[in-house]
Amino acid sequence: VRLGARSYSIHVGGGSLPAELSRYPRLRAPATRAFLVCDSNVQALGKRLVRALGRRLAGNAIIQAGEASKSLATVEHLYGAGARAKLDRHSIVIAVGGGVIGDVAGYFAATWLRGLPVVHVPTTLVAQVDSAIGGKTGVNLPVGKNLVGAFHQPLLVVVDPTTLRTLPEREYRAGLAEVIKYGIIADATLFRRLEMRFDRLLRREPSELAWVIRRCCTIKARVVSQDERETTGLRAILNFGHTIGHGIEAAARYRLLHGEAIALGMLAAVGLSQRVLRLPDSEAERISSLIRRAGLPARLEGGISDEKILAAIRLDKKRAAGQVRFVLARRIGRVRTGIVVSALSIRKALERLRA
Ligand SMILES: NC(=O)c1ccc[n+]([C@@H]2O[C@H](COP(=O)([O-])OP(=O)(O)OC[C@H]3O[C@@H](n4cnc5c(N)ncnc54)[C@H](O)[C@@H]3O)[C@@H](O)[C@H]2O)c1
Ligand SMILES: [Zn+2]
Repeated sequence: VRLGARSYSIHVGGGSLPAELSRYPRLRAPATRAFLVCDSNVQALGKRLVRALGRRLAGNAIIQAGEASKSLATVEHLYGAGARAKLDRHSIVIAVGGGVIGDVAGYFAATWLRGLPVVHVPTTLVAQVDSAIGGKTGVNLPVGKNLVGAFHQPLLVVVDPTTLRTLPEREYRAGLAEVIKYGIIADATLFRRLEMRFDRLLRREPSELAWVIRRCCTIKARVVSQDERETTGLRAILNFGHTIGHGIEAAARYRLLHGEAIALGMLAAVGLSQRVLRLPDSEAERISSLIRRAGLPARLEGGISDEKILAAIRLDKKRAAGQVRFVLARRIGRVRTGIVVSALSIRKALERLRA
């Protein structure tokens, strides 16, 4: 990720996580001590890293798995643990887990002593292709998700695809929605590869995963490098499927995983793309067929009402000061941003999702 003095690498490779970490110069510096923040579901990996860090370990914290831990209470708990571990300016934070751990430990790192470096060791597919890259950190408040946070680019991201072996199937497939998204927004070759070798991906073959993850990370890195703080508008392409997807996610009251809601949001965006940008029917069919192969939901169920979805989209729009615009696809691999879509068109898109 090229960001001048804040540039960093993303290592993608299998099996050698502790070695990868200890090879990194900043971690070998004599004064460097590490504080490990680990998800309760990946403690075995956490223990391996603790052993590998040896005397360099300043302390560690295990965070209860789940979105509820992405809170100010967890950050406060980490401040306490950080104080006990006597974290100083030579300390670094290592975040081991999914997006929840990355976001909360990243925010802790961003604010402790006004900012300690953080190394991300993502262990979910979502985190490996998305949340560990780009520097967005933060927590939820009772009134809404991701309302408190900071941009804090990591020092390093170490992705080991073999850590995904233990990830529950549903979580894994939700991550595939983001992978498919990268193909649609920027990479027809990736999309074609997914179509050709999707079975290998479903089997979580490490070599296939490494190829695909590297490709996704490259896209995210490029986008972030060109639009670090969402000011030039380029970063908006990452929101393909997310406008309606977020609406569905909120209206479903989080019965759907993020990736599942995004799969539906992408299908809705595909329908709009066919109408507004003349996305060819054959390409629309390829997208929906891949989403189905991923075992992601392809139909909107009755319990999730249009009114609730539209209300949630309107709320997103208000929060963004009227800036919520659609990202639609012209072809697989090419999208256009900033498209205004009427509420009626959204309703029709939802109607098609129920058919
Ligand atoms: N910062 C960003 O740019 C960004 C981008 C996308 C999502 N997010 C955030 O990320 C969060 C979602 O991330 P997520 O999908 O990784 O969820 P998550 O962190 O909750 O992980 C999902 C589940 O998998 C478990 N888990 C993690 N790794 C595992 C492993 N290797 N084996 C077995 N179980 C494992 C976790 O304990 C959890 O139960 C949300 O809070 C979202 O807002 C942030
Ligand atoms: Zn997403």
